[in-house]
Amino acid sequence: MSDLNAGRDDLLMSEEASSDLSCSAFANANQAPRPVASKGKGRKRSRKHSRSKDKSVAPVGGLPEVLAGRYCLERLLGAGGMGAVYRARDLLHEQFGDPDPYIALKVMSEAFSESPDASALLYSEFTLTRRLRHPNIVRLHSFEVDTQCQRAFITMELMRGLVLDKLLCERPAGLPCDELCEVVRPLLDALAYSHAQGVLHGDLKPSNVMLCEDGVRLFDFGLSQAEEGILTGLPQLSRSRFNAWTPSYAAPELLEGGALSVGSDLYALACVIYELACGKHPFRRLPSTQARKERLEHQLQAPRNLPKHCWPVLQRALAFDPAARLTTVSQLQDAFRGPTSWLQRWLYHH
Ligand SMILES: Nc1ncnc2c1ncn2[C@@H]1O[C@H](COP(=O)(O)OP(=O)(O)O)[C@@H](O)[C@H]1O
Ligand SMILES: [Mg+2]
Repeated sequence: MSDLNAGRDDLLMSEEASSDLSCSAFANANQAPRPVASKGKGRKRSRKHSRSKDKSVAPVGGLPEVLAGRYCLERLLGAGGMGAVYRARDLLHEQFGDPDPYIALKVMSEAFSESPDASALLYSEFTLTRRLRHPNIVRLHSFEVDTQCQRAFITMELMRGLVLDKLLCERPAGLPCDELCEVVRPLLDALAYSHAQGVLHGDLKPSNVMLCEDGVRLFDFGLSQAEEGILTGLPQLSRSRFNAWTPSYAAPELLEGGALSVGSDLYALACVIYELACGKHPFRRLPSTQARKERLEHQLQAPRNLPKHCWPVLQRALAFDPAARLTTVSQLQDAFRGPTSWLQRWLYHH
């Protein structure tokens, strides 16, 4: 025991350990023992990271370069309606020689950060997403607050890939049948799992799904809600105050003040699937209430790349009337899982 402590003291006193710190705000990190095995490599890696840090653009949005003395912001990855997501390095993990200390870090965008509900909304996103452990749902690490700048943030896995709206820019005619099914199946699995855990997504759209190196990921549960009876301690936040629904993917009942439901998630997902199958939004990107007024459902045609037997189910998921809409993700899952008998397989391709 005493030997171990002596070794640890050596490490703590080591000048090398403190000179290796990449950011001065991380000064407290030399309280942590540095694993001996990582010394040499760690030093090289730190220099490399320092170089990449030099090249990085100064973060925007009134944020300091290092948050909570640990996360060094490198660049903005994307900003949606309410949040801004940065690529960052976890200096603690880097210090211990982690070869991949990169994470993604989400804050509320500056415009929203002033709102009294901003941190609570972000926390709600964190706590709901954290319940979900699924290979096709983004993995979150922590919810933290930088006490100096008084901003709350989420840390999560850094996804590397292409969001579906960018993919659709590259494939304006949509995806061929095989690729379509490869994207849609895991997406349906992710949503079915989320619903089974009592979490409604609330903001399904192409910019909230990424095609990563290791598969599809559903993310941005920023507007998600727990079904009744789940996580009852969370404050009920008035999302309508933020006017946050995305009109071209939100079901009509949501735009008319109704509550989020399995059905509204299905409507949004059906719009995404339709778009992936032919490159076009089913209702010319109109808000669903407007599309309903123009009776656009009567002009809908089966997308060419969609397996034929999936169309009746997809069409029911696109129904404007929630009473006429599908009621569970499983009906779409069954359709996309594909036919099992030879006869069904033959029909599938004709
Ligand atoms: N974990 C992540 N890894 C990599 N990029 C991400 C990650 N999370 C979000 N992004 C990027 O940031 C964008 C905005 O993130 P999102 O969570 O959708 O914020 P908002 O709630 O503002 O829409 C996404 O469209 C995506 O490009
Ligand atoms: Mg988003």
